Amino acid sequence: MWGSARIELLHGVNLDQLGSRDPTHYGSLTLTQLEAGVRQYAAARGFQLSCFQTNHEGVYVERLHAARDSVKGLILNPGAWTHYSYAIRDALELTGLPAVEVHLSDVQEREEFRRHSVIGELCVATVAGKGVDGYVEAVEILAKEMSS
Ligand code: DQA
Repeated sequence: MWGSARIELLHGVNLDQLGSRDPTHYGSLTLTQLEAGVRQYAAARGFQLSCFQTNHEGVYVERLHAARDSVKGLILNPGAWTHYSYAIRDALELTGLPAVEVHLSDVQEREEFRRHSVIGELCVATVAGKGVDGYVEAVEILAKEMSS
């Protein structure tokens, strides 16, 4: 979509396994299906959504570095890195971009270690426990943020 603002959706470690991970936490969609749904929603709202997933922390960090000059907002689900990666936190801070943290599962209601996010305070919002709808909500939050 020519001229529309770009948003980047970045999935981290193990999220390529959606569809075979515990469906009670993560639902039954594959990552490809999830991304297609969010991309379609974003396009209808006038945004171009680029999607990326990696199981390598340094690659995730480098993708954040590159996002600085190429997109206007970020939707981040770093998976388990959420809870301990200061490298990802620092890279996010460097972007200076508005970001929404999304988790498919309700991280506050699971194991203790999932309750803490090292990126949360750098994000304009966190949406958790709403499955794929959480990503749709994130697009709406970013739309508002980017227009203000
Ligand atoms: C997750 C929650 C994390 O705690 C977990 O390590 C994941 C997925 C989620 O989307 O619910 O891999 O980010």
